Amino acid sequence: MFKIAIIPGDGIGIDVTKEAVKVLEVFRDKRGTPIELNFFDYGAEKYLATGISMPDEQIEEFKQKYHAIFIGALGDPRIPDMAHARDILLGTRFKLDLFVNYRPVRLIDPKLCPLKDKTIEDVNFVVFRENTEGMYVGVGGHLKKYTDEEVAIQTSVNTYKGLERTIRHAFEFAKEQGLKEVTMSDKSNALRFEGDLWQRIFESVGKEYPDIGSRHLFIDALVMQLVKRPEQFQVIVTSNMFGDIVTDLGGQLQGGLGIAASGNLSPGQVSMFEPVHGSAPKYAGKNIANPIAAILSVQLLLEYLGFNEEGKLIESAVSTAIVSDKTTRDLGGNLGTKEVGDFICEQISKNL
Ligand code: NAD
Ligand code: IPM
Ligand code: MN
Repeated sequence: MFKIAIIPGDGIGIDVTKEAVKVLEVFRDKRGTPIELNFFDYGAEKYLATGISMPDEQIEEFKQKYHAIFIGALGDPRIPDMAHARDILLGTRFKLDLFVNYRPVRLIDPKLCPLKDKTIEDVNFVVFRENTEGMYVGVGGHLKKYTDEEVAIQTSVNTYKGLERTIRHAFEFAKEQGLKEVTMSDKSNALRFEGDLWQRIFESVGKEYPDIGSRHLFIDALVMQLVKRPEQFQVIVTSNMFGDIVTDLGGQLQGGLGIAASGNLSPGQVSMFEPVHGSAPKYAGKNIANPIAAILSVQLLLEYLGFNEEGKLIESAVSTAIVSDKTTRDLGGNLGTKEVGDFICEQISKNL
């Protein structure tokens, strides 16, 4: 039995998680997929009411007893500094050492691409984002806070181990998938020290994979090329911060954040899956949010656990929804969150 923790979180996270859970329930109840779903109410409401964000014992329980975690989204305008979200989201990523963030970018239907004349083959790459280091580590501080001499320092931390395992993961993925090239992107022309480490590790790991090309692009050139000719990319590996930015762009290339999925991985250990999007507070509770990013994140989760047939069933049901415009309005359809979830569940049930 595989134990899955579900944290709907805040805003539209709650709406889209309901639909993602419906998909998991179809597999559990109609196919007998051996999964157990356990729900956790970590998020803004709990934090505001109790001051509890994500206790360390909870993280420990996830580590010891769970196989996967699903998070809807976090973020609430009543907590402008995102304190709870940092603990829950970044806490899960950091404390479970989910060192690589896998963010596939795959165009399902050409009509969704904002670029002219792009086919589904043209927009089909993955981004591996280093997930526990860089600018996100929280090293820094303020000096003379609230004075006109205030100083704010935010340090980027890059370890040999952190970069090596992320870069290696990208090459291993390319090897398994029979892909021909990995592109590493940094800003080594300006950020010398971390750039130097990224460059050296990328070169040395790349040498171990002689059949796979190694290519480097500065991050500004990468975003330009992603819009100009996305078809040149298969696998991109980059830092935490650049990976965050580039995957919102990637999300838009496939039709918007409403369909961009991700997996925060520590291969062989409990890992966490979530849509790339946030809590979009203005759409919360209105049956407007697109549940497909959440449902495709469930696909990644099930595949991670080895349920590849289930993964294929989700992929094909989502494609049918998109091709036949059974979608929310961000994708040009006129259904609500719940109705899209229902349609996808019906498609899956039909094909079981
Ligand atoms: P957001 O991703 O929540 O929304 C940006 C815009 O993208 C929305 O206004 C909407 O137009 C579109 N969008 C996003 N998800 C959609 C969906 N499922 N269906 C349809 N349209 C969708 O980003 P934001 O507005 O910058 O952030 C809102 C809050 O979410 C903030 O508190 C932010 O920090 C947080 N956030 C959380 C996560 C996360 O939990 N992983 C990710 C990003 C942002
Ligand atoms: C994401 C989000 C998070 C990040 C935020 C909410 C901290 O934007 O998952 O892409 O920057 O990693
Ligand atoms: Mn982001």
